[in-house]
Amino acid sequence: MKAGRPSFTAAFVATCRGLAPMLPSSARLVTDPFGMRVLGPAAEATVAAVSRSPAPVRALAWAPMLPMLPWALYMQVRTKVLDDVVRSFVAAGGQQVVILGAGFDARAWRLGEELGDAIVYEVDHPATARAKRDRFGETSRVRALDFDFEADELSSLPARLEALGHRADQPTLTLWEGVTMYLTQRAFEATLDAVRAYSGRGSKLAFNYVDRGIVERPSPAARAVSAIVRAVGEPFKLGFSPRALASLLEQHGFIVDEDRGFDEHASRLLPSPWSRVVRRGRRIAVVERSATAVRR
Ligand SMILES: C[S@@+](CC[C@H](N)C(=O)[O-])C[C@H]1O[C@@H](n2cnc3c(N)ncnc32)[C@H](O)[C@@H]1O
Repeated sequence: MKAGRPSFTAAFVATCRGLAPMLPSSARLVTDPFGMRVLGPAAEATVAAVSRSPAPVRALAWAPMLPMLPWALYMQVRTKVLDDVVRSFVAAGGQQVVILGAGFDARAWRLGEELGDAIVYEVDHPATARAKRDRFGETSRVRALDFDFEADELSSLPARLEALGHRADQPTLTLWEGVTMYLTQRAFEATLDAVRAYSGRGSKLAFNYVDRGIVERPSPAARAVSAIVRAVGEPFKLGFSPRALASLLEQHGFIVDEDRGFDEHASRLLPSPWSRVVRRGRRIAVVERSATAVRR
């Protein structure tokens, strides 16, 4: 993160979500009307105008920004999978959602009544949280917490959430979307401990992560992405193999419910050829708080 500036990657992924109306209807899983707010009214108006155009014009509009297409499709899959995790949690009676590294996540606004009475606790770096308030406005559903995962004491997170009304004796769904790859191993593990500490029985944690190979032995394409995120001050630092991750999670008091690659999600959710364009080497894990005490 560059000090005092909103996260570039948060703005980038929000923009990718905001491009959904320009996708062909068969590739559109989720629309996020807040995504383009991050770039401002001119970008919002352009996407709205293109989305009202006939299909051939929409297809032509992608020509100057073709490298964005795999990202827009990837974000469709990521957003849909995690939206469904939120829906199941709320349908099962869950009333507390914590979003770590919330960025410009608009679920609290976008999912509206689907969230029932759930309160959404959004935790992020102060500069990004400030920019979000300016663009999205306030909603009574959201309680925002300014927090730096690298600089602040992670063991203070449960108490700081409690000060906002969060209850550690109740189930919580924690979303940790698009964040783990930017953290050090130390911050990753300390965050797991903090999440375990504020998560009552029946809690879940859902996050995406990159394969270890993307960080350690990147392909030319992955090297290009790494160079960009490094240049904006948010380098990829952390990746896992699913097996090593499951064992680490177990040490921190979590059991894996589901851990699937984006290729698998994409083939289930999108028709070909779109499913084949989605980025590889990335996974989504949904884990639950184990009933047993943490063994370490
Ligand atoms: C790629 S964005 C993802 C945003 C959002 N979760 C989404 O998927 O749209 C990464 C987010 O992690 C946050 N982040 C990264 N490092 C952080 C840190 N050390 N402390 C707090 N937040 C951090 C950034 O502010 C940013 O909002």
